[in-house]
Amino acid sequence: MKIIIISNRLPVKIEKKNGAFRIKRSEGGLATGLGSLETKAEQYWIGWPGIHVEDEKEKAAITKRLHKMNFHPVFLSPEQIENYYEGYSNNVLWPLCHYFFSYIEYKAEYWKMYQQVNALFCSESLPFIEDDDIVWIQDYQLMLLPKMIRDERAGVSIGYFHHIPFPSYELFRVLPEREEVLQGLLGADLIGFHTHDYMRHFMSAIYRVLNLNSDLDEINLQNRVVHIDAFPMGINYEKYHQAPTLPAVEKKTNSLKRKLGNQTNILSVDRLDYSKGILHRVNGFAQFLEEHPEYHEKVSLAMIVVPSRDTVDRYAELKTSIDQAIGSINGRYSKPGWTPVHYFYRSFAFEELIALYHIAQIALVTPLRDGMNLVAKEYLATKREEAGVLILSEMAGAAIELSDAIIINPNDTEQIATAIVQALTMPEEEKRKRLDKMQTRISTQTVKKWANDFVTELEEIKILNKEIVQK
Ligand code: G6P
Repeated sequence: MKIIIISNRLPVKIEKKNGAFRIKRSEGGLATGLGSLETKAEQYWIGWPGIHVEDEKEKAAITKRLHKMNFHPVFLSPEQIENYYEGYSNNVLWPLCHYFFSYIEYKAEYWKMYQQVNALFCSESLPFIEDDDIVWIQDYQLMLLPKMIRDERAGVSIGYFHHIPFPSYELFRVLPEREEVLQGLLGADLIGFHTHDYMRHFMSAIYRVLNLNSDLDEINLQNRVVHIDAFPMGINYEKYHQAPTLPAVEKKTNSLKRKLGNQTNILSVDRLDYSKGILHRVNGFAQFLEEHPEYHEKVSLAMIVVPSRDTVDRYAELKTSIDQAIGSINGRYSKPGWTPVHYFYRSFAFEELIALYHIAQIALVTPLRDGMNLVAKEYLATKREEAGVLILSEMAGAAIELSDAIIINPNDTEQIATAIVQALTMPEEEKRKRLDKMQTRISTQTVKKWANDFVTELEEIKILNKEIVQK
């Protein structure tokens, strides 16, 4: 038995320098979880390598090197990227699932290419898949793939995990291809979501769109049962908790502390995305500065925005608006020796990020919608002797587990401003109590557990479904 992971992106970074390709593993949350699966089964990972390659010889050379790492690349053309990735995935499904209905840009080519690229992932994967394998498909870019694989490999065990929110039926119904998308997912034996709410929304769509006979967590098809469950994704807690003690991190922490002096530091880290509520957060911070001059020169916000999808128009526009909003706050409130917002538009190395988490007394995590949000968990995990306060949006999947954070509605900038004051004035004892509870949770519900729970349930279902077929 093998485990075959299929996701839009492979966990690698490939760069071309002086005519030669450099391949580096990128250790995202998913890669860490899968790397720690408690199984002897060999693992393969199939996905887009994130780089455009025209030349067939170069493609073959990259493929050969990736195969040595048990990765298989699915190369995409600029047209496929434009219509499948930027188009249907990120201009239709992403805004739909994050409740940005008015951001949906619909074009017929998007859907056509989404189908075509899902079929390409299928044909690239099939040579790797044998009957007793487990296939685990990741996320909204590949919602048609479970059925496509099922049609070709009836007996194989297929799982699908949806990493983003699943919207309420009233929103999902606007999708012209709602039926095909749901049918695509039902090719899986197990469909996983981060929370029970997403699961409930999905079941309601199944009932109303497909009128299928369904239970709370099972959908009965003619010869199979599809199981639905909630698996909240976590992080590698120990890695984040121990990281502040690494010499390289300690050095960075000390240097940052020296630079910041006695200032209280609030941290915010996101990928550039309108779903993250970055502008609302900046406005909330501006309101805090406006209403509380007593904190001027004492508190600053370090705002990290990691570049992402900047070829999609909405993202490019958002970047301009964030630049303007931060420029306007700094222009208005800065004083010699104090800049209210330190803004970084770039990605950070792990050590730098940990140092920033570690010195931040407060983390401001206020997405308008977020499937889970692992930044909140990473921040809490880095806390050791000094506690920290998490201000967290109720619209993040993580809010269900992290109810000891200061929970806010991210649309309410006044609430953000009030929460900042509450965090700044919170007694140490209360901070510690809240942190302990949340650390207990995230140190148990780790990414390793997430991956193992999913695969174990999939294996159990495989046995159950075999019994049904034999009957
Ligand atoms: C979210 C999605 C992932 C995606 C990631 C980065 O977390 O759930 O599927 O890979 O964002 O986005 P990108 O478009 O750069 O792959």
